[in-house]
Amino acid sequence: MPTREEIVVLAQAALAHAYAPYSKFPVSAVVVAASGRIYVGVNVENGAYPLSRCAEQIAVGAMVAAGEREIREVLILSTSNEPAPPCGACRQILSEFAGSDTPIVCRNTAGEERRFTLGELLPAAFRLDAR
Ligand code: THU
Repeated sequence: MPTREEIVVLAQAALAHAYAPYSKFPVSAVVVAASGRIYVGVNVENGAYPLSRCAEQIAVGAMVAAGEREIREVLILSTSNEPAPPCGACRQILSEFAGSDTPIVCRNTAGEERRFTLGELLPAAFRLDAR
C-alpha cells in the first residue's frame, strides 16, 4: 500500500497538469485501488463549459480502464482555502466503486485536510436495482 506521503506527492505532481483555464481552480484526485495501485486524475475543462470533467471522474476512469473496480481510498487536492470536498456528481461516481466506509481525504496545498467517509458525503447513494 502506498504511504500517505507518496499519495500526496503524486497528487501535487498531478495538480500542475490540471487543465483549468476557465475556473482557474485546479484539482487533482488520487484513487488507491484494492490492489494498492494508484490512479491519478486532474480536472480537464473545455471551452464548452458543461463538457468539463472533474479530477475524480478522470481518476476513476483510469482505474476502470486498467481493469480494477474497487476503490480503497481517495485523496483530492486543490488550492482552495478550505480543503474542498468532491462535488455531488463525483460522490455518485465514486460510490459505484467504493463502499460507505471508504475514506475520502480532502486536502489543500497549504497541507490542511478534511477527512470523510463516502457514506458521510453521500448517504443513500443511488444504486441501480432494476426489476
Ligand atoms: N472540480 C473537480 O475537479 N472536482 C470536484 O469535485 C469539484 C470541482 C473541478 C471542476 C471544474 O474544473 C473546477 O473544479 C471548478 O468547478
